[in-house]
Amino acid sequence: MHVADGIERDALRRPGRKRRGRVVAPEDVAKQPSEQRQRYPRLCQTRATANLNLRAKKALALRAAGCGRRVWSPLTHHSQGSLPRLAQEQQIPSARSVAKRPGRILVTGGAGFLGSHVCEALLRNGEEVVCLDDFSTGTRANLAHLEGHRGFRLLQGDVAAPVTAEVEAAQVDAIYNLACPASPAQYQADPIRTLKTCVFGAATMLEFARSRGAAILQASTSEVYGDPQVHPQPEHYVGHVNPIGPRACYDEGKRCAETLFFDYRRQHGLSVKVARIFNCYGPRLRPGDGRVVSTFIVQALLGQPITIHGDGRQTRSFCYVSDLVTGLLALMRTPDAVTGPMNLGNPAEIPVAELAEMVVRLTGSRSRPVFLKAAVDDPRQRRPDITQARQVLGWAPSVPLEEGLLRTIAYFDRVLAGGEGAAAGRAMA
Ligand SMILES: NC(=O)c1ccc[n+]([C@@H]2O[C@H](COP(=O)([O-])OP(=O)(O)OC[C@H]3O[C@@H](n4cnc5c(N)ncnc54)[C@H](O)[C@@H]3O)[C@@H](O)[C@H]2O)c1
Repeated sequence: MHVADGIERDALRRPGRKRRGRVVAPEDVAKQPSEQRQRYPRLCQTRATANLNLRAKKALALRAAGCGRRVWSPLTHHSQGSLPRLAQEQQIPSARSVAKRPGRILVTGGAGFLGSHVCEALLRNGEEVVCLDDFSTGTRANLAHLEGHRGFRLLQGDVAAPVTAEVEAAQVDAIYNLACPASPAQYQADPIRTLKTCVFGAATMLEFARSRGAAILQASTSEVYGDPQVHPQPEHYVGHVNPIGPRACYDEGKRCAETLFFDYRRQHGLSVKVARIFNCYGPRLRPGDGRVVSTFIVQALLGQPITIHGDGRQTRSFCYVSDLVTGLLALMRTPDAVTGPMNLGNPAEIPVAELAEMVVRLTGSRSRPVFLKAAVDDPRQRRPDITQARQVLGWAPSVPLEEGLLRTIAYFDRVLAGGEGAAAGRAMA
C-alpha cells in the first residue's frame, strides 16, 4: 500500500497522537494512522495550530523588516548570459505581453489544485471561464466558491474524448490544457489512462483550438527532463528519461504532448504556449495525494512520522501557487511568436530532508523523519533555469518558501479540523 493512502483516509478524520521520538520501521508506517487517530483526538493539531499562529506572525514581521530575501539568492547562481537556444531561435519579440480583450477561456482540469487557481485568476481578470474536468483527481469543492459566478461554467467530461456539443457551443477563444493527474501516486495508479490523457487529451484540445483559431497553453512539466544530467535545467536541455519505467506514463506522455504542440505550430501555424512547470504547492493540494509538500504537512500536523523516500538528499524547487499562476497567465498573454517551452518554477532548491525539517519546525510538530526505499527513477536534483521567463515575461516567483508553507499549513490545518476544504477531502476519500 502506498503510504499516502493511509494518510488520506486519516487526514479526513480526527488527528491522532504523536509517537514522540520513536523511529518507526517502514513496514509499520502504514499501520500507524488508524492507531493514532482513534486514540488521541485533537491533541497535536491544537498545539500545531498554536505554534503556527505564532510562527506566522514572526514570519510576517521578519518579512516586513526585509529579512526574508535570502530565499531568493539562488537566482544569482544562474549564468547571466544569453537566452537559452530555443528562445533565440524563436526570435522572441521584445514586448512582454499583448493586451487582449477579455474573452471566454476553456480550462481543462480546472477542478484540480492548479486549475482551480487558474480559473479564479482568470475570472478576477474579467474573463469568462468554462471548466472541463472529469473529477478524477480534482473536485467540485475546489470550485464551489466560483459556482454561481456569472462568468463561470463547469462541465464534466474527459479531455481525451471527442469534444462534446456543450464544449463546442462554449465558443472559447483560448484554452489552458491542464487536465492530467500530477502526483506520482495518482498518475501511476492507472498509467495507461494517464498516458491517454496526456497524448489524446493534447491531440483533442489542439484540434479543437485549430477549429476555433484559439490560442492554447499546455501545462507541461519538469518531468520532461527526467533524472537530469544538467543542472539547473534550461529549456534547451533535452532530458534524461527512462521510457519504460513506472513514471514514463507521465514523463513520456507530457513529452509526446509537447511534440504534438510543436507539430501543430509548424504544420498549422497554431498559437501554442508550452509551460514546463516545476513543483508547485499551496492551498487545495489534496491531503494524501502523495506529493511531498502535502504529505509532510499532513504528517506533521497529525504528529505522524515524516516519510522520506531515499536518503532525503535529493533536491526539489517549490513554487507557491499564486506565483505559478501569474507566470502561466503572463505566458498566455505573450505575442504569437512566443511559444516556449518555458520553465516556470522557483529556482530556490532545497533537499527533501531539509523541507521535512522546515515543515516540522513551522508546524511546531514533534514528528520525526523515517527513511523509506527510494522511489524508482526518482530524480536526484531539480531546479529550473528561469532565465527565459525572467527575460521574456519579466516573471520571477516572489513568495518565499517559508511564507508559502505557512499559508499551506494554515489551509491543511483548517481541512484537518473539518473546516474549509474538508468537503474537498471527503469527496476524494
Ligand atoms: N502541481 C504541480 O506541481 C505541477 C507540476 C508540473 C506540471 N503540472 C501540470 O499541471 C496540471 C495540473 O496539475 P495539478 O497539480 O493541478 O493536478 P491535479 O491532479 O490537482 O489536477 C488535475 C485535474 O485534471 C483533471 N483530469 C485528470 N484527467 C482528466 C481527464 N482525462 N479529463 C478531464 N479532466 C481530467 C482532474 O480531475 C483534476 O481536476 C497537470 O497537467 C500537471 O501535469 C503540475
